[in-house]
Amino acid sequence: MPRPPVQRLIEVMSVPFNFATAIEAGLNDAAQALGLDTAPFAPEVHTADPRHGDFQANGVLPYAKRTKQNPRALAEKVIAALPSTITTNFDVTIAGPGFLNFTLQIPALERWLTTYDTEELLRTGATSAQPEAGKTFVVDYSSPNTAKQMHVGHLRSIVIGEAICRLLDFSGAKVIRDNHIGDWGTGFGKLIWAYKRQLNSNALATDPLEEFERLYKVGNSAADADESVLENAREELVKLQAGDEENLSIWRRINEVSLAAFQKLYDQFGVTFDHTLGESFYNDKVPQVYQELTDIGLAAESQGALVVFHPDHPRFNEQPFIIRKSDGAANYASTDLATLLYRTEQFKADASIYVIDSRQGDHCQQLFLTAAKWFEKTNRRLPRLEHTSFGTVLGENGKPLKTRSGENIKLRDLLAEATERAATLVGQKSTNLSPQEQASVAAVVGVGSVQYADLCQNRSSDYVFSWDKMISLEGNTAAYQLYAVARIHSIFRTLETSPTEPTAFAAADGLETTTEIALARKLAKFPEGLRGAVSQLRPHALGLYLYELAGEFSAFYNNDKVAVPEANIRARRLRLCARTLLILETGLHLMGLRTLQRM
Ligand code: ARG
Repeated sequence: MPRPPVQRLIEVMSVPFNFATAIEAGLNDAAQALGLDTAPFAPEVHTADPRHGDFQANGVLPYAKRTKQNPRALAEKVIAALPSTITTNFDVTIAGPGFLNFTLQIPALERWLTTYDTEELLRTGATSAQPEAGKTFVVDYSSPNTAKQMHVGHLRSIVIGEAICRLLDFSGAKVIRDNHIGDWGTGFGKLIWAYKRQLNSNALATDPLEEFERLYKVGNSAADADESVLENAREELVKLQAGDEENLSIWRRINEVSLAAFQKLYDQFGVTFDHTLGESFYNDKVPQVYQELTDIGLAAESQGALVVFHPDHPRFNEQPFIIRKSDGAANYASTDLATLLYRTEQFKADASIYVIDSRQGDHCQQLFLTAAKWFEKTNRRLPRLEHTSFGTVLGENGKPLKTRSGENIKLRDLLAEATERAATLVGQKSTNLSPQEQASVAAVVGVGSVQYADLCQNRSSDYVFSWDKMISLEGNTAAYQLYAVARIHSIFRTLETSPTEPTAFAAADGLETTTEIALARKLAKFPEGLRGAVSQLRPHALGLYLYELAGEFSAFYNNDKVAVPEANIRARRLRLCARTLLILETGLHLMGLRTLQRM
């Protein structure tokens, strides 16, 4: 009989999910009991070098110095005042001048392993007492311009944005995925001009974005060569903006077709948006922005344009934030301001996260500064605003990645090449699979490799795109991780049981070998890998953890035979396999990857 879920949850809550935060809380309790709050005490808990235990707390020393006490004596007092949540889980010792070392006791590790045994329970643990829990995060990512194909420059926003959404969601946030497409540019004038004259319907049917790009080029060079064409294109744009039915329907068609083409790529990445509200959606919402910003004296006319300066900023005191162009048209800034208001009022956003490349740093800073003043003056609550920026994907030559002939690499072609290259690897490694199975494995490995290679970089840096490094079984790659997952599944298949079958572990006894214990300790550090990634919206912290976990698993697997005749040993090792699998799969799914049972 399964136990009632409430009972189970109460049990779960009695086992700390995140040992580092439990130590922090325990130290804060001890500090309070000792009256250390007179001069603020910060626990400063870090993951320790494994030789010194699991965690180290450094806060006693600076506190003792500040308050002129003997650090070791104070450390002893703190240890004596620690609550049972700590003393029942850790051995605590004093190191050096007054650092505290915490080593997880084996029964605590075992409790953790038997408690957090499903993805749902990991989520329960990850959700409890997190600052993100219950908050609404609008994540603005991908957000390409329509009428053009996505290229390699569009990769990172999709991949990083999706991982961030999943990480936030797993931490209990309400996530709203908003694809803020650029569907209202001035380029539509030339495009409509050419569309009306040179549309190739066959090309439109087979490859619409290619056709729109061609038409745009046609319109552009015709306008360059002939002043009257340029004039006509301008008229087409004015007509569009004034709501001319014919132009609007062409424009709608272009956007619809663009989105359908984008969706094919999103499908490959497993991305679904809750909203795709383009710049055009905010068209009728910008006048309110002009009005309010002018009324509060934040925006003023300058050479016909409406601009915002920030006298308190060293650069934006002179570099204007143009929110209405001199021809009266709205721009990127006006729509972004209107968008933020909309997200605040309609989505009740507690946070608005912009996953945009670092070159738009100024735009974001000016947007955030302007919004902060605007919201303050109008008594609105400002959501947390964050530009989750990222660097550029470089070629081996250190310059932005291009084709040999210097063109942008289309994202579609990049994913096709990834799948093709993965097929070669899979063909060598997965010889037991049928050709069809190999092909579907290759698709998962190919796209996953591109995603994972991107996510394992600190997003702030540029990185060099290398097929050989990315699609490989060596190093921290998707293929390495996915094969580890499939290998664990195959262990269970061979032993004719399942990782989710509790009876498989019923006979398990205490952890014994060094490699078993090392693996268990690594497993129980998952919450910190996760926290590192969520707190800074940096997925690579989780990627690094997963790599270390896979490494500990290999060491364990090479050292400790699982299929032994002794039921107790087999069961406890199988349990370690099952938990490794659970955490690897959960982690990889959080990074946006699909995993496979058989490879
Ligand atoms: N469409 C823009 C571009 O391609 C990115 C939009 C990002 N989101 C935003 N709210 N500004 O550069």
